Amino acid sequence: MSETHSATARAHPNIAFIKYWGNADDNLRLPANPSLSMNLDGLYTQTTVTWLFEPNADRLILNRQPDTGTAFRRVSAFLNILRARLNITGSAQIESFNNFPMGAGIASSASSFAALTLAAVSAAGIQLSERALSTLARLGSGSAARSIPGGFVEWFTGQSHDESFAESFAPPDHWDLVDIIAVVSSEHKTVVSQEGHRSANTSDLQAARVAGAAERLAACKTAILSRDFKRFAEVVEHDSNLMHAVMMTSRPPLFYWLPPTLEVMARVRQWRADGLKVCYTLDAGPNIHCICVKNDAEQVRQELSALSGVVDVRAALPGGPAALVDVNG
Ligand code: PMV
Repeated sequence: MSETHSATARAHPNIAFIKYWGNADDNLRLPANPSLSMNLDGLYTQTTVTWLFEPNADRLILNRQPDTGTAFRRVSAFLNILRARLNITGSAQIESFNNFPMGAGIASSASSFAALTLAAVSAAGIQLSERALSTLARLGSGSAARSIPGGFVEWFTGQSHDESFAESFAPPDHWDLVDIIAVVSSEHKTVVSQEGHRSANTSDLQAARVAGAAERLAACKTAILSRDFKRFAEVVEHDSNLMHAVMMTSRPPLFYWLPPTLEVMARVRQWRADGLKVCYTLDAGPNIHCICVKNDAEQVRQELSALSGVVDVRAALPGGPAALVDVNG
């Protein structure tokens, strides 16, 4: 290890337009299908890692509280992977916070493991390419691979650890899409995505979903590159519906939608038919990500806020890559 023992990094969460659901290899988190996402600006996890020479003394302070529970165990297991793969000895002291609340409909695992990877590697004095950082972040949480590069990002499935990484195909300023998140429930989800990925193959529909994913991804990428909202909306909603069809038909089934979720989905389709450039996509939870063009964002925000089932509304533009933060600067 070099002189540098401490580093701070920030990473944004991301919203997938073509979803990752199910693994070809659970241990390596090699996904069953390629996926595509946009980083969310303004929202971030900031993580400081300090490597200490004492063994068996990993410590986590999460959102200003010491954590020894589930989050700590997941972080510590990930640190063991980093230590083994990068030949790092010693324990890590980690201080991490999100500038967005839990239960806001934004998954924090992507930004958390992306920031943790960059901070831990940098604090150990190791220089890695963006690709290598993305592969490592994937081992903490699959979608974290997509929070390492900036803007609009594609994650390749790959056949091995080194081949499964995410890469940017357009910078954040390529298209001013806005993700307006309609929060319909702030309760924490009961089934973590790790278990969901393991159950994906119990649905008869998963094989069909996976078989068409590369084609949907190509269509989505072309729509983004040509800023074709109509095509974009069709494929994004379709892909989200497919993932939820798999979830609902898994054994045991996973139902994430609540009554207001369905109402917002129906409204979004109606607003689009009425001329607004807006579509929806949902992750493993009941909150709806309404993706729209910047010109229509204020109207979409107002329409969503007026619905009785919507308890909160948040907005994010495309965000940049994970980056080191100079805390003294
Ligand atoms: O990275 P994970 O294991 O939390 O999985 C993310 C799964 C979804 O958010 C539902 C879809 C996606 O591609 O982000």
